[in-house]
Amino acid sequence: MNHEKEINKRRTFGIISHPDAGKTTLTEKLLLFGGAIQSAGAVKNNKIKKSATSDFMEIEKQRGISVATSVMAFNYRDKQINILDTPGHKDFAEDTYRTLTAVDSVIMVIDCANGVEAQTEKLMEVCRMRDTPVIVFINKMDREGKDAFDLLDEIESKLGIKVKPMSWPIGIGATFKGVYNMHKKELNLFSGNKTSIEKEVYNLNGIQDPSLSDFIGEEATEILKEEVELIDGVYGDFNQEKYLEGKIAPVFFGSALNNFGVQELLDSFIEVSPTPQGRNTESRSIEPNEEKFSGFVFKIHANIDPKHRDRIAFLRIVSGKFERNKFYLHTRHQKKIKFPNPTSFMASSKSVVDEAYPGDVIGLYDSGTFKIGDSLSEGEVLNFKGIPSFSPEIFKEIQNDDPMKSKQLDKGLRQLTDEGVAQLFVMQPGNRKIIGTVGELQFEVIQYRLKQEYGASCSFVSRNFFKACWMTSANKVTIQDFIKRKSTNVAYDKDENPVFLAPSPFLLAQAEGDYPEITFHKTSEFKLDE
Ligand code: G4P
Repeated sequence: MNHEKEINKRRTFGIISHPDAGKTTLTEKLLLFGGAIQSAGAVKNNKIKKSATSDFMEIEKQRGISVATSVMAFNYRDKQINILDTPGHKDFAEDTYRTLTAVDSVIMVIDCANGVEAQTEKLMEVCRMRDTPVIVFINKMDREGKDAFDLLDEIESKLGIKVKPMSWPIGIGATFKGVYNMHKKELNLFSGNKTSIEKEVYNLNGIQDPSLSDFIGEEATEILKEEVELIDGVYGDFNQEKYLEGKIAPVFFGSALNNFGVQELLDSFIEVSPTPQGRNTESRSIEPNEEKFSGFVFKIHANIDPKHRDRIAFLRIVSGKFERNKFYLHTRHQKKIKFPNPTSFMASSKSVVDEAYPGDVIGLYDSGTFKIGDSLSEGEVLNFKGIPSFSPEIFKEIQNDDPMKSKQLDKGLRQLTDEGVAQLFVMQPGNRKIIGTVGELQFEVIQYRLKQEYGASCSFVSRNFFKACWMTSANKVTIQDFIKRKSTNVAYDKDENPVFLAPSPFLLAQAEGDYPEITFHKTSEFKLDE
């Protein structure tokens, strides 16, 4: 098959949601439709359940499993679908943000009772940063929830994206009868069914079809007709271009648990979603159909077994064809490396691949050569843009509890930050190390892994910073002046960039007022965009 065909066949996306909206269930059902798994329940154990007190060992156990499920590829019709899994636990949100740099589109799951939740808003912000196309799946329609029009309004106002309903629910919760697919003029009747993928679909002659009331009754028919007319008037036709630009989100209603609306979603997804897209680098943009191979690492998974210290680096292929055992340039190290055992992830099984194409994600065994954002190429030095660090939300100073092991502690910290477990900021004088994360859980992970993998003991002291802000200014002298005056709140990130550790929103606003020539950034993305 030629290169162009291989590219066009692939669809690489992520499913995102606030925890408990139904991401795992939907993933599982998509795999079921794709024939990749035979029964429900197979993906479930990947999930790190959110709980008030974290059970770290449980997470460790599940991390082992989730290596295989970090990427789930399966064939559906004539397409190869690559689902990139994103951690459900909010403390691992940063991992999700990075995974979003490797997808070409997302499906966002929203719980019809809870509507748009905090995590959904954050994730959408990340999608908006790179205009990622979004499809919305409103889930749990078998339960009582918010009015469908209110949900659409909420999505538009809270997520800042226009919507276009592709199907429309008939009732909700106890009165839920199914959906009318406006795009295909089909009636899809609901029957609660958790295991089978059979469904009851009727082709209609549009919304005025007289047989409609035979299926759903007079009353529901009248309501549906009115609502569909209203929707047609308000939302207009689906504009695929606008969707691909990330400006409009098609919306589907269903119930993942009951396999309802999932196939419609999948069918429309493969019809409208983008093929593997190119990526920008600091020097130029790379297109998937270029002959030469290139790719970037967006995630690193450490092996938790201390006997096997290897890690898996997940590489998204951007252009050309990746081949096993061929030498590629590791552009940061300026070193040529070949990979004898690159892994592909077909649903729940892992296997060695000989070649991979744009849109694919492969796992490369790594003994510490990679860090997040690294790229491979056939010789060109490429630095892909858009693998940002976000400002952490919790800051703690690390204390070395075993002075005999300070080297191990340093090495461990460096490697864990390369993997993206947390961000490290160093404060001078004294070389004090501040760890920044988005969740408490990571501190437990760091402490545990430093002990297990590096033999180093540490503890943490909370530091009350509000945000880490990277600084830029056309006037370098101003930055130097700022650093001098605010030295107790300035630290350096892993690339030696100065960062202002703002103690509070008030003091950040004050710094912005006092230093109008400096821009304070809450993500490190700016470096890549300059
Ligand atoms: P997440 O990955 O987004 O965190 O959510 P997950 O799929 O685990 O779903 C969260 C809960 O919502 C699960 O129940 C799941 O069964 C339920 N759920 C998912 N889709 C639907 C749906 O369409 N209708 C209804 N009624 N429930 C749905 P749980 O009790 O937390 O877990 P479990 O005991 O069922 O595994």
